Amino acid sequence: MKLEKIRPSEITPEHVYLSRRRVLRIGALALGTAALSACGLPSPSPEPTQTNPRVPKDLPTDKRDEFGDPANRWEEITNYNNFYEFTMDKQEVARLAQNFKTSPWTVTVGGLVNRPRTYDLDDLRKFGEEERIYRLRCVEGWSMVIPWLGFPLHKLLREVEPLSKARYVRFESLFDPDQMPGQRLSFYPWPYAEGLRLDEAMHDLTLLVTGLYGHPLPPQNGAPVRLAVPWKYGFKSIKSIVRIDLVEEQPATLWNTVAPHEYGFYSNVNPNKPHPRWSQATERRIGEPGRRRTLMFNGYERQVAALYAGMDLMKNY
Ligand code: MTE
Repeated sequence: MKLEKIRPSEITPEHVYLSRRRVLRIGALALGTAALSACGLPSPSPEPTQTNPRVPKDLPTDKRDEFGDPANRWEEITNYNNFYEFTMDKQEVARLAQNFKTSPWTVTVGGLVNRPRTYDLDDLRKFGEEERIYRLRCVEGWSMVIPWLGFPLHKLLREVEPLSKARYVRFESLFDPDQMPGQRLSFYPWPYAEGLRLDEAMHDLTLLVTGLYGHPLPPQNGAPVRLAVPWKYGFKSIKSIVRIDLVEEQPATLWNTVAPHEYGFYSNVNPNKPHPRWSQATERRIGEPGRRRTLMFNGYERQVAALYAGMDLMKNY
């Protein structure tokens, strides 16, 4: 994968000329790198810009992950985003999303549960808020350390009481092309959808995120509520969630539908399993020179390896 920045305008014609059906017929590989990169287009390290004027005052500078690595700065976390509903250009998301309406907002939880329920943002508050400093490793080869605020998803799942038939959890983002210009491109099968196995969803590391650096989540990071699954590639951490369903079969996800040979359902961070078009052995930590080694399960091996006992992770990627 090349490291120079490609402007979205350079790839627009493909989106314009090819209907989704035709794209799928041609086959994902024929399309070219940019349109099918789950983590978008590589660009230089982000610098503070004017696009996001709402930088909170008095942000702490001493936050670190459990390895002692410093958290990325607010400016980095909020100006270098993947949110294809707005644009494929990471450094334009903040500007395009600044007026995104995140209130009122509801999350409807249903499917194979005893107590289906629609939560508004006030309802979600009862699950509390705690800080979790997680690494986010994008499938494309960059990473950040992010001090999220949120609550473990299992708290909510326990309340709706999954039925014994439920084996997977499906998540869906908002579909609103009037607010999200990227959704007017019919290439992607909107709305953005993701999925986890039920035991992955119940794992204590799986977080429903409502804030960042002790502040409400900015729109570009997936406000008002998104997922953080730190041992998986970043695209599993779906933003701006409106629906959560407990289901029996493995659900279709956006990236697995668009390019199944490149983006598996599990998508656990695995330095030994190269992406078909690039190595996953190293990563570029935003704000850091050079590259660092990528860790198995993004450094969360001790906590999550048991979820995959007996599975061939080279096949179940
Ligand atoms: N969720 C939605 N709805 N749409 C997206 O385009 N991008 C994913 C993920 N969640 C995406 C999404 C990808 S590829 C990554 S790497 C992370 O969000 C980026 O999260 P961040 O912008 O908060 O760093």
